Amino acid sequence: MTLNEYLGQLDALAQEAERAFEQAQDADEVEAARVAFLGARQGRFKALQKGMGRLESAERPTAGKKLNEVKRRLEKALQQAKQRLAGAAAAPDSRPRLDPTLPGDRRSLGRLHPITQTIEELKDIMGRLGFTAAEGPEVEDEWHNFEALNIPLEHPARDPLDNFYLAAAESSGHGALLLRSQTSTVQIRVMEQTRPPVRIISLGRVYRPDTADATHYPLFHQMEGLMVDRGVTMAHLKSVLRMFATSYLGHDVHIRFRPSFFPFTEPSVEADFRWNDDWIEFGGAGMVDPNVLRAVGYDPQEVTGFAFGLGVERLCMRRHNITDIREFYRNDVRFLQQF
Ligand code: PHE
Repeated sequence: MTLNEYLGQLDALAQEAERAFEQAQDADEVEAARVAFLGARQGRFKALQKGMGRLESAERPTAGKKLNEVKRRLEKALQQAKQRLAGAAAAPDSRPRLDPTLPGDRRSLGRLHPITQTIEELKDIMGRLGFTAAEGPEVEDEWHNFEALNIPLEHPARDPLDNFYLAAAESSGHGALLLRSQTSTVQIRVMEQTRPPVRIISLGRVYRPDTADATHYPLFHQMEGLMVDRGVTMAHLKSVLRMFATSYLGHDVHIRFRPSFFPFTEPSVEADFRWNDDWIEFGGAGMVDPNVLRAVGYDPQEVTGFAFGLGVERLCMRRHNITDIREFYRNDVRFLQQF
């Protein structure tokens, strides 16, 4: 055996022993490693030490130095293994603990969809104007979606091509079922159940079989508003819409009414807001038609009311300069994260 081979064997032994001590899981395994490597009679270190006799005498001082070095390494590894296990026994739960005095480490937990955020904000603004939020079902019957809103059977708005009728069985005497095409249905539901005065908004989804493009989507959201009381006039409608637009868009907004037609309001208008040197149409409005008041058992001689229906996506798009309504429904996180 050459000197180099001998030194190589010593190094290999040291590495193997160190690994064994590091991996020992308990006192028994440490002891087994000690006997295997450092045992006074059968230990592998002892065996190599004996082997030194086969080297040339001139080589022995170098070999002896290496033997001492390897022996110190093995003893150190044995001590470290013992300390490691003793430490683990003394403090079994030495994992890092929560320190509430350390500065925070903010994590992003996701966020509300921009439409949900807009809805919350609209409710808040209208709440300050005294309007409470009401809810209605998205699957409606023809009575609430059309009939009670003064939209008779032969009216083109009821065309099957313009609505999502459901193939389900007829509802209880109120006509076929469909996905509501407007939140005006909730006006009817609220008035059927309460006596005037009424001051509500209703925010939710509506459905129309439109082809999706930058400004249309078969599903969108509306904010309906309804106020019925003695002596309610167009002036109240105009003031409420102006105060709403001023709150939402952040500065004094001009309001413009253009004559229009809806079966459930008379007169009917389309409401425009002045925004960035432009007139923007935000939805329909008008004075509740006496036929609608009668349909829910109100006396049109006694009370009058106004109603409006605004597009929620459109408002949010204006506020944030979003140019394509489809962004709201693609749910690309890079878009959503901006809100
Ligand atoms: N429901 C109408 C629409 O969807 C909007 C509207 C609501 C108009 C209330 C007048 C009064 O277009």
